Formats: sequence, structure tokens, C-alpha cells
Amino acid sequence: MTDRIVLTSDHAAIALRQAIAVHIAAQGWTVVDIGPTTHESTPYPEHGAAAGARVASGDCRFGIILCGTGQGIMMAANKVKGVRCGVCADTFSARMIRQHNDANMLSIGARVVGEGLALDIVDAFLAAPFEGGRHATRVEMIRALEG
Ligand code: RB5
Repeated sequence: MTDRIVLTSDHAAIALRQAIAVHIAAQGWTVVDIGPTTHESTPYPEHGAAAGARVASGDCRFGIILCGTGQGIMMAANKVKGVRCGVCADTFSARMIRQHNDANMLSIGARVVGEGLALDIVDAFLAAPFEGGRHATRVEMIRALEG
């Protein structure tokens, strides 16, 4: 399985995205940062969909995406077939979306959490394995909803 993680954000989250890139690169992950790099206003649906496509295709193992709240970009990413993305503002949820929901993308709101908590959320997400078992049945049911 690839060690590549795709990162993206809209204009509201560039600094936090860059901090996350440095943090996970130091852990040995290969960072695929698909921008944007300027602070000009840019629509989060485009970026969420682009990152989602990288994960759904298998090019990247995980995606970490950010906007002001984390909500809009998460909604866009979840429209890509095969993506399971949750917004997290706490480490418990970040762990659980891996363990129970087999989430392959994590969304964070840069206007909601500070950098220290955001990095802990990323760590919790990346460290937690999917538990399978009864949760696999439920994830299969989510997949079936995609048609
Ligand atoms: C941009 O101002 C803001 O709407 C966006 O970053 C995000 O919070 C949307 O969900």
C-alpha cells in the first residue's frame, strides 16, 4: 500500500496545511500537496474533489483536506465515489473514523482548531487501524449507497 498522502485546502487554510505537510513528512509519509499556494480566494469544491480523486484512484492512501470550517471541502470530497471523509475537531473522532468507518480522508477546519490540536488530530487519524468485523459490514453498506 502506498505511503502517499494528498493534501489540499482552500485559501482559508494554507498555513495550517503547510504545517501539516511538514509534520507528516517528518514521520516518513510522502506528501502530495496539490495546493493552492496563493492566498487568493478559491472554491473549496474544486480542491476537495481533486484530492478525493487521488484517494479514490489509489494514487494516495489518505487525504487530508482543510477549509475554514472543514465542512464544505468535506462535503465536496464525499461526492467522489470511494471517499469516506469526516470533519474532526477532536482526537477521539479522528481515531474513530478510522477504526469504525474506515475513513480514507480527514477534514479539518482551520478557523476551528489551532495548529497544536490539528497536528494531534492528524496523528490520531493516521495511527488508528480499521477494526473490520461488524464495522466492515457497515462500511460495505455505505459503499452500496454509492450505486
Ligand atoms: C471560505 O470563506 C469558507 O467558506 C470556506 O473556507 C469553508 O469554511 C467552507 O466550508
